[in-house]
Amino acid sequence: MPKITLAANSQSYEVPEGTSFLEFCQENDLPHNFGCTVGSCGVCVSSLDEGADQVNPVTDDEGETVEMCSGVEGARLACQLKVNGDITVRQLD
Ligand code: FES
Repeated sequence: MPKITLAANSQSYEVPEGTSFLEFCQENDLPHNFGCTVGSCGVCVSSLDEGADQVNPVTDDEGETVEMCSGVEGARLACQLKVNGDITVRQLD
């Protein structure tokens, strides 16, 4: 099973393939900040320290939001992530 690791608390969680990162965090009260939950506010912007190729590809809409809220190359909106393999997620400021 894919494994989510949160850089914030160094904890790892096994999840079924295709799990929504947002829903998993909400259901398990994990320490990751979200706002709109639909990919437009940028509050959840994050980097994938590991496993950038283990999540769904960036859509045009997500890419536009990331561009507006982060200068970090490869940044993703955590609310838009579907987990297909092992990832390590770090929330950006
Ligand atoms: S929570 Fe608003 S963009 Fe992810």
